[in-house]
Parts: sequence; C-alpha cells; structure tokens
Amino acid sequence: MCGIVGYIGKKEAVTVLLEGLHHLEYRGYDSAGLCVLPSAHSRKRRASVVRSVGKVDALVDLVSKKNVSGFVGIAHTRWATHGRPSVANAHPHSVGNIHVVHNGIIENYQSLREKLIERGCRFRSDTDSEVVAHLIALERVKHDFETSVYRALSKIRGAYALVIVCDDDPDKMIAVKNSSPLVVGVGRDDFIIASDVSAIVQRTKNVLYLNDGEVIVLSRDGEYSVCSLNRLVKRRKPQVIDWSPEQAQKGGYEHFMFKEIFEQPHAVVDALRGRVVISDGLVRLGGLRSVEDRLCQIKRIVIVSCGTSYHAGLVGKYMIEEYAGVSVEVEFASEFRYRKPLVDKHMAVIVISQSGETADTLAAVREAKNKGALTLGIVNAVGSAIARETDAGVYNHAGPEIGVASTKAFTSQLSILVLLTVLLGRGRDMSFVMGQKILTELERIPHLITSILKREKELRVIARAYVKNDAMFFLGRKYHYPIALEGALKIKEIAYVNAQGYASGEMKHGPIALIEDGFPCVFLAPKDSVYEKTLSGMEEVRARGGRIFAVSTVGAKEVSSIADDVFFIPKTLEMLTPLLLVVPLQIFSYHVGVMRGLDVDQPRNLAKSVTVE
Ligand code: AGP
Repeated sequence: MCGIVGYIGKKEAVTVLLEGLHHLEYRGYDSAGLCVLPSAHSRKRRASVVRSVGKVDALVDLVSKKNVSGFVGIAHTRWATHGRPSVANAHPHSVGNIHVVHNGIIENYQSLREKLIERGCRFRSDTDSEVVAHLIALERVKHDFETSVYRALSKIRGAYALVIVCDDDPDKMIAVKNSSPLVVGVGRDDFIIASDVSAIVQRTKNVLYLNDGEVIVLSRDGEYSVCSLNRLVKRRKPQVIDWSPEQAQKGGYEHFMFKEIFEQPHAVVDALRGRVVISDGLVRLGGLRSVEDRLCQIKRIVIVSCGTSYHAGLVGKYMIEEYAGVSVEVEFASEFRYRKPLVDKHMAVIVISQSGETADTLAAVREAKNKGALTLGIVNAVGSAIARETDAGVYNHAGPEIGVASTKAFTSQLSILVLLTVLLGRGRDMSFVMGQKILTELERIPHLITSILKREKELRVIARAYVKNDAMFFLGRKYHYPIALEGALKIKEIAYVNAQGYASGEMKHGPIALIEDGFPCVFLAPKDSVYEKTLSGMEEVRARGGRIFAVSTVGAKEVSSIADDVFFIPKTLEMLTPLLLVVPLQIFSYHVGVMRGLDVDQPRNLAKSVTVE
C-alpha cells in the first residue's frame, strides 16, 4: 500500500505535493519522491525528479536544496512490495519524458520486464512499477500521450492506481484506477489526485471517486474527462465530503485497528494475487522458487515467531501436518534462541513476522542459519531485516498495519500458510483434486470475511454484555485452539482483560476450577470434526454457571441451546475456518476495548514492532 499525490493547476505543485504526502505517510513510509514538470515560461525543459529513502521529511529536506518549480507534478510515499527500500526503487519512475507513480501490484511484471529488456529497455530498479513507465515510453515513440497510456494499460494485469505525466505534454495529467484506491479533488481551477481524501480534503471538499477500470485525463485549464479502459466516455460528477484529514486516513473508521479489520478481505486477496493456479491445483510462490528443490526434501519444519505471528504458526502446524504430511513444531522465538534447538540441514525453519524486525525472531533466524537449516520468512515489510536474512520467503503484501494489535497481517499470514501447505503437499502426495478443492475454497474466503464484517453490529451488542469482565477464557480445539489463543491475546492487548486461551480439552485438567457464576467463556464451536467434544465442554461450563459466548457455523443449532450469546460464521473447509473464526473475536475485542474507553490503536506498554529483547 503506497501513497500517491498528483497536482495540476495554478499553484506551485511542490507545496501541494509535499503537504499531501505527509497526510498519506501512514500508507507507506520507507521512501518517497516527486516529479514536477517545468512551467511553460521556465528555461528548464526537463522535469525535476527528486527521490529519497526514509520518511517524507527526508524528501522535504532534499527538495528544499533544489530549485523545483512548476504547476504540474506527481509524488509518492512507498510501502515496498517488490524491491527493497532504496532511491532507485523509489517512485516516480521516469523513462524518457514519461514519469509514473504507482500503488498496487503488477501481476505480470516479470514477463513484461523480460520482453522489454529484449527490446533494449534498461531497468534501473527492482520494482514491478518501472515496467509501466517503459511500456508508455515505448508507445510514446509513435502515439500521443493519451494513446500511449491506453496502449500500455492493455498489456498490464494486476492491481494498480497510476498517475502519469509527460515532459512534452506538460498541461495534462493522466490517472487510472484498477483495484487500488484513487480519488480526485476538484478545486476551483485545479485538481489534486490522491490515494485517499486525507491528501485532498484540506484544499477542497469536492471529490470525484474513480471506479475500477477508469481513466481520468486532467488538464491545466480545469477540464477533465473520464473514460473506461476501452476509451468509452463516462459521466462522473464530483461530490462533497466532510471528513477531516485524520478521519480520511482512517477511511472514516474511528480507529486504524477497525479499518484494518475491515481491510482483511483485501489483505487475503493481495496475499493470493498471482500465486494460485486453480486449473492445476497448484501454487506459485516466486519467493520460494530458488529453494523449491530443498523444500521438497525437508523432513521437518520448525515455525518460530512471536505473539500473533506465533498463533499463525500454530494454525500452520495443523494444516501442514494434516495436508502435506510434514512434521511441524512451533516455538516462541524468545525460547528457540536460548535453548539448544535440534536443528540441521535437513530441516526448514520458517519465521513469521509482520514487521520483519522483531529482535527475538531475527535472532532465531541467525541461530537456525548457524545450524545449516533452510530459513524461510513470511514477512509483511519488504526489505526488512528478517526478509533480508532468511534464505527465501513470501511477502504478505498486506500494506502497513498501523494498529498495534495485529489483525489483517494475521489473516494474511494464515492465507500464505495455506498456500505453503498446498505447495508442500502437492510436492508430496496431495492429489490434484485436494489441491484444487483447497485453493477454490481459499479464493472464497475474502467474500466470506466480508459477509461477517457486514454483521459487526451484532458483535457490538454482544460485547456490551462483557465490558465489565476483568477475566475471561477463550477455548478452542484442534485448528481453533490457536484462534482461542489469538482471541485471548487481542482482548488482553486492547481491553486489558485478563484473558486466557486454552485448548478446550484442557479445561477439566485444572482451569475449570475458575468457573463460577457468570464467569465468561468464549468457545470456538464451528460444526466440524471436534464439534461434539466442544459442546461437551460448553455443557461443563454451563453446569457451573459460566456465561458462554460461542462462535459457531451457520446451521449448528445445538449451540444456541447451551450458549448465552452466539455469533454464526459461514461454513468452509475445517482447515480454512480459522481465517473466519478470528474475525468476530477481533471485532468483539475491539468493541470491548472501545466501550472501556481505551486507546485501541496504541495500547499501554505495547509497541508495534518489538525490536528489543
Ligand atoms: C499482536 O497483536 C502483537 N502486536 C504482537 O504479539 C506481535 O504479533 C508480535 O510482537 C510479533 O510481531 P511481528 O509479527 O512483527 O514479528
């Protein structure tokens, strides 16, 4: 997820661009850049392009040392998806007199890059975005600016929001939206185009939302036209919004955490993008291509991570052992690195980390490498330490996760663990049919999560009944035991409730002593292979006066006669149920935290990335 800003009008573009980037910095902050076209009366004929690593302030410093002036410009703050943070990988990408900023993922960039190199194009970055600039520049040799853009767009696949300018057509700006956000601010005699309204709303409240597959051409004389990708004219009128910049950064949600809970369908889509080959029941993980042979030979896997990422690893264990037949252990990184782990070259150590900078997890990578194990990373932050030090890995592409409590990164991690399960399984004895069945259902998950999110008000009502509880159990069996741990962690982190997650079969071995009248227990009780056992556990709690909130699957009627509160989720494969089960628990914990008047985005004592031991 990156931040894009474009300006075309009568003001100095650089001022508007830098102001806009500051408002978009929450979308990405590892590098930034801008391009301003020379104004007609200036002696300069070439655009000014300035790019820097680090936050927007570094770009501001750099720009202040240069003479950047003009009324048309584009700018970008980056959250790396392909190619680590560097000046060369920062946007805009310029080829000839074409300058491009991009947010999203060009799925077919590898094949395009190879073809462009064969045609003599010289690439100066590791990004997917640069292929767009080359495609347009090549078309520009024979076509006008607009036609060149349309012809280039016909060749790219994936998610993209693009804003493009051209030195020799300086009074025009072209932008296109396809699965990545883009909105246009319509001023009295100028336009600001950006990834979201937070970069626009302090200058104009008139905004024009583009739909997927739409191209807008903005002119410096205040005219604009919107067309489809096949150049059919579309009528599009501006509308008035009343968000503050801060509200806009949160997409209108009250907290980043809630916004990120609602971004989960997109996070799963982006985790799967370009990696699923349904027709063959196969998975393509480009980041593991170099180690696929070793992966096929490994006998054991150890998954090592912390916190929420550790819980994802536990779900991964159940998946990989059941469907790929490989033995998996899961360990806290903070334990792994200090005990004497039995690790050797016949094993793979998989580390999961949203930030890619967690000190304990990084130390575990180094310990595993010392012992000759193959080290793989499932990481969200491109170019982070863990991503760089592991032998290979898979990026989440979930975009920055601002809320300290991890939500969308977790469902993204689970999605990638399903892909890894199929990759390992299909290299062993998983059938084509099973591979296809899992992947087909996995592609339905975003839609199923959306159906849960639409009913979040039911969870707000349920949460109200638990706001005063200072202690709570979360109970689940098999695939749902890690989700019980995750649910307990969420409500600990953001509502400061002393919640314990347990394997529900463990209740009778001690914890049940705590059950008394009204003691709240959250049961994960989807109708699957362990449903009956879970009902028994619920009966045990009920018999002792405990209060039960159960999350079950549509059609599981028995639950309602035992539990005090029930939330139903759609049915899916048992191994995929964790991706759905966790969502109501995230929302439940969020509402309890908000009702308790707490700062759910920045809970006390916590940090988003624990880079110290
Ligand atoms: C999760 O909500 C917490 N913020 C925390 O447990 C986190 O998952 C843990 O610190 C690991 O972080 P990482 O995924 O960035 O390595």
